[in-house]
Amino acid sequence: MKLKIRKVAVIGTGTLGTQIAVHSAYHGYDVSAYDADPKSLGKVLRMIQVRIANSNRKPAIPLKEIQRQAKKIRTSPTIEAAVQGADLVIEAIPEDLMLKRKIFKQIDACAPKKAILATNSSSIPVSRIESATRRPEKCLNLHFYSLDLGRNIADVMGGKKTTRQVLEAGKEWVRSIGCVPLTVNKELLGFCFNRVWRAVKRETLHMWAGGYVDFKDIDRGWMIWTGMSQGPFGIMDAVGLDVVYGIERVYYNESKARRDYPPAALEKMIERNHLGVKTGKGFYTYPNPEFKNPKFLKA
Ligand SMILES: NC(=O)c1ccc[n+]([C@@H]2O[C@H](COP(=O)([O-])OP(=O)(O)OC[C@H]3O[C@@H](n4cnc5c(N)ncnc54)[C@H](O)[C@@H]3O)[C@@H](O)[C@H]2O)c1
Repeated sequence: MKLKIRKVAVIGTGTLGTQIAVHSAYHGYDVSAYDADPKSLGKVLRMIQVRIANSNRKPAIPLKEIQRQAKKIRTSPTIEAAVQGADLVIEAIPEDLMLKRKIFKQIDACAPKKAILATNSSSIPVSRIESATRRPEKCLNLHFYSLDLGRNIADVMGGKKTTRQVLEAGKEWVRSIGCVPLTVNKELLGFCFNRVWRAVKRETLHMWAGGYVDFKDIDRGWMIWTGMSQGPFGIMDAVGLDVVYGIERVYYNESKARRDYPPAALEKMIERNHLGVKTGKGFYTYPNPEFKNPKFLKA
């Protein structure tokens, strides 16, 4: 029997959670949300404007529509209230395994028995989280990308016990909100496309932190080569450097290899609150980063 998803609850309305919630509302789902910071949704909507302005990519849905749909999201004061009646709960809180396990446990305790629980984690396989719940067969990874920049793909991966029915329901829901599911057949840290992007991040961060090259030259090369409006450092600023750091730590914790440890220079930027677009300063300064200036790519 096919699992029907009608009501979606999003836990954590930061950069990605807000976008997932907005797209679900746009595609007709009844959406509720909870965030530890009640101002989060408003802050992210303002940030999305800057991100779109700095990119030559079209958002998956127009900015006006993003703002209109955001009004439909019912924000709740607690997780318990947000997950009432949910068919799918998707978590998008910071990239920290213990925190995610804690929140999954809370969600599991109050979400309907039928509900599927998904994590938007960028690197943590759900098999590390599922045992915090009493429904491992209903847990899966659904990893979205920046929909505001038109990246309408989502990595889909099951855990140790995820049923085929739950995986299919996850994929169908991803398609129903206008995204292309990228299926991972066998558990892999970093999933499908995200593992490709991660290889770029690790290399470029070490090239910069080791003083080998100016990060702007990496971005120039990337922009000219791919025709994109941003290079890896501009993209990392948009993702959030704290988020990038958290993801790199997950890879390091897995391998314990020195080459996987995020550079100390990145840690210093985070200590200074230079987190990228969300704080106005990262590798570049916002809202008018240097890579937007036509002179940036002049011979
Ligand atoms: N930023 C990206 O481009 C991106 C892309 C794909 C996946 N992700 C993943 O999505 C998740 C969230 O990343 P993000 O970039 O949206 O982060 P973010 O920092 O923008 O947002 C996280 C949100 O979680 C909230 N939060 C923190 N603790 C909470 C708690 N205990 N309960 C409820 N809310 C809480 C914060 O207030 C914040 O609004 C991470 O796992 C990240 O790896 C991020």
